[in-house]
Amino acid sequence: NWSMENFIDTEISRIKKLVGPTAEVIGAVSGGVDSTVAAKLMARAIGDRFHAILVDNGVLRLNEAKMVKKNLTEGLGINLTVVDASEEFLSKLKGVTEPEKKRKVIGNTFIHVFERVANEIKPKDGDEIEFLLQGTLYPDVIESISFKGPSQTIKTHHNVGGLLENMKLKLIEPLRELFKDEVRALGELLGIPHDLVWRHPFPGPGLAIRILGEVTPSQVEIARKADHIYIEEIKKAGLYSQISQAFAALLPVKSVGVMGDERVYAQVIALRAIETTDFMTADWFIFDARFLKRVASRIVNEVDGISRVVYDITSKPPATVEWE
Ligand code: XMP
Repeated sequence: NWSMENFIDTEISRIKKLVGPTAEVIGAVSGGVDSTVAAKLMARAIGDRFHAILVDNGVLRLNEAKMVKKNLTEGLGINLTVVDASEEFLSKLKGVTEPEKKRKVIGNTFIHVFERVANEIKPKDGDEIEFLLQGTLYPDVIESISFKGPSQTIKTHHNVGGLLENMKLKLIEPLRELFKDEVRALGELLGIPHDLVWRHPFPGPGLAIRILGEVTPSQVEIARKADHIYIEEIKKAGLYSQISQAFAALLPVKSVGVMGDERVYAQVIALRAIETTDFMTADWFIFDARFLKRVASRIVNEVDGISRVVYDITSKPPATVEWE
């Protein structure tokens, strides 16, 4: 009979058998629930013969790389390498303003960096890296066979075909029969911190698609700070678990404001928060007006370069969740 405990045992012995006594496995982690659960399962099965890689693409959230390192290494005992490729990504993103182009640039750079790092990770005893771990879920499996629509671009950064071919890797997908809620239950059983298990999803292209227009280091800093304040206030107000996804988007529009005695001409932050079950349709979240007032005031006061904050009251459809 099927239970999550049985699933863990079965999956761990299946992985052990598949990988064998000496081969090594690599896999990217993002700080999200799927890749963390997959990585933890792998570490349980084969210990340090699993090599997790976090690529810092320069468009992660505030302190994200540090936090992932702490959680995975100290907290979960996963063998993790963090690669700071921020400069490489940001230089490739220079001058790019078109959303799909941003996704392509980030996806391609990711594959490039990952491949380089994977080649640098030479297991001590000369064993070969033979497998690539992917945190693919059942809905991803269905989606990729059933239609070739926008999902193809949504999954750009998951496009590991090149890695499998160039590096002659074989794919391991321990979560491919599970739905999101099952992955979360599995995560809890594996001892992954509750906050991580229930984290909102974050897109692969990161803040790059939440900074409309060109992505520059100074724009990333503004978007990061504003998003951090917003999420911090959502958590403080006890609303995080009621919301499916929330973030701040930085608009390429300037508006006039007054700060102290001076007129300023600065950018606009748009706050987004949605409730949804499947992300195909979504309703905007109804905040208490006092909450929005508090967030707006903090962002304008604490983030240089912002003079105005607006709240996005569009559902999906017609609007998408992301602004790009
Ligand atoms: P949209 O904007 O399409 O978003 O309504 C639906 C969900 O998908 C996420 N999303 C992405 N995730 N790469 C990702 O990994 C992407 O390029 C991408 N675009 C959108 C979005 O955050 C939301 O959860």
